[in-house]
Amino acid sequence: MFNTQRPHNTKKRRKSILLKFHQFIKMQMETNFLIPFFTIFIQLMATHVKPQLIESQLSFPSCTATDPALNYRPVIGIVSHPGDGASGRLNNASDVSYIAASYVKFAEMAGARVIPIIYTEPPEIINQKLNLVNGIIFTGGWSKKGLYFEVVKGIFEKVLEKNDAGEHFPLLAICLGFELLTMIISKDNNILEEFSASHQASTVQFVENIKFEGTVFGRFPPVLLKKMTTHCLVMQNHRFGISPERLQANNDLCGFFKILTTSVDKKNKAYVSSVQAQHYPITALQWHPEKNVFEWGSSQIPHTEDAIQVSQHVANYFISEARKSSNNKPATSKVLDNLIYNYSPSYAGKVRGSFEEVYLFTPRPTLSSL
Ligand SMILES: *[C@@H]1O[C@H](CO)[C@@H](O)[C@H](O)[C@H]1NC(C)=O
Repeated sequence: MFNTQRPHNTKKRRKSILLKFHQFIKMQMETNFLIPFFTIFIQLMATHVKPQLIESQLSFPSCTATDPALNYRPVIGIVSHPGDGASGRLNNASDVSYIAASYVKFAEMAGARVIPIIYTEPPEIINQKLNLVNGIIFTGGWSKKGLYFEVVKGIFEKVLEKNDAGEHFPLLAICLGFELLTMIISKDNNILEEFSASHQASTVQFVENIKFEGTVFGRFPPVLLKKMTTHCLVMQNHRFGISPERLQANNDLCGFFKILTTSVDKKNKAYVSSVQAQHYPITALQWHPEKNVFEWGSSQIPHTEDAIQVSQHVANYFISEARKSSNNKPATSKVLDNLIYNYSPSYAGKVRGSFEEVYLFTPRPTLSSL
């Protein structure tokens, strides 16, 4: 049995060795033998294609700065508010003012830098700073009179003046900012009504037949807009506001603003929650787009992915408006001297302040090198 099997096995082995050799040769023919030809082909391609590649890279339009009409280095002025934002726990000085860092980060996350407009600074300094920025944010807060009110009013008038002179100069007024604009435009300091909307996340209801295009909601995905009407994606924190009826009854207000949304307070009372100026790049929101992303002091602040996106879309809208402000071409050094990076924020969240971080400003004896 052994003897008969053996020759057969040897034959088989010889046959398989032959087959492997044949395969090896075939493979060599297909690969190694072609390598020199392939290398020559590649070299030819390289010498001919390489210059073309460089040429096309040089003239590739999307790599160079794009629309010359836009300003891709927008700077936003944020007006400081009286106090330290932490009920005196950080600073008790009577002339201290603060900017919650959430407003700064809100502008930064959409591609802008920030210059603080410190309301206690002399008017000429504030006016010079207005020429360093491409848009303004009025923040939330509580102060409705005195120097702060006058400074906000003066800056609002400058915003109108700049736009009337052909410079696109946007303004975003948030919460108190919205309320102050309502008072200033109506020329009625008693126009606001009381609402119960402290620490309340809410929905927004869009005004019927609203055209979203050209408004803060213009680039929101339709699905998100729909969700805003059913889910509490915006943060309210106010005791005052204006009802749609009262706004519409005031000729100055309804001539200036168109209502975009309303919301209801804890007692189901409706108030105006978003407006857009008819003829100016001015948006006013009773709610806080900056809180969803950056504030953690109230358990009511919505932090869902949808809520974060709402904030991001508002920031993107506002900074896209600021990019249209290309008239201001200040000296770089003047911008750098005044940027918020010259200040350090304080951690207020830890001492039960209303905000996580605040920038504090006390009037400086020597003013910045404007
Ligand atoms: C501010 O004043 C209050 C009340 O007098 C005091 O409790 C607090 O420690 C002071 N804050 C600072 C930062 O000094």
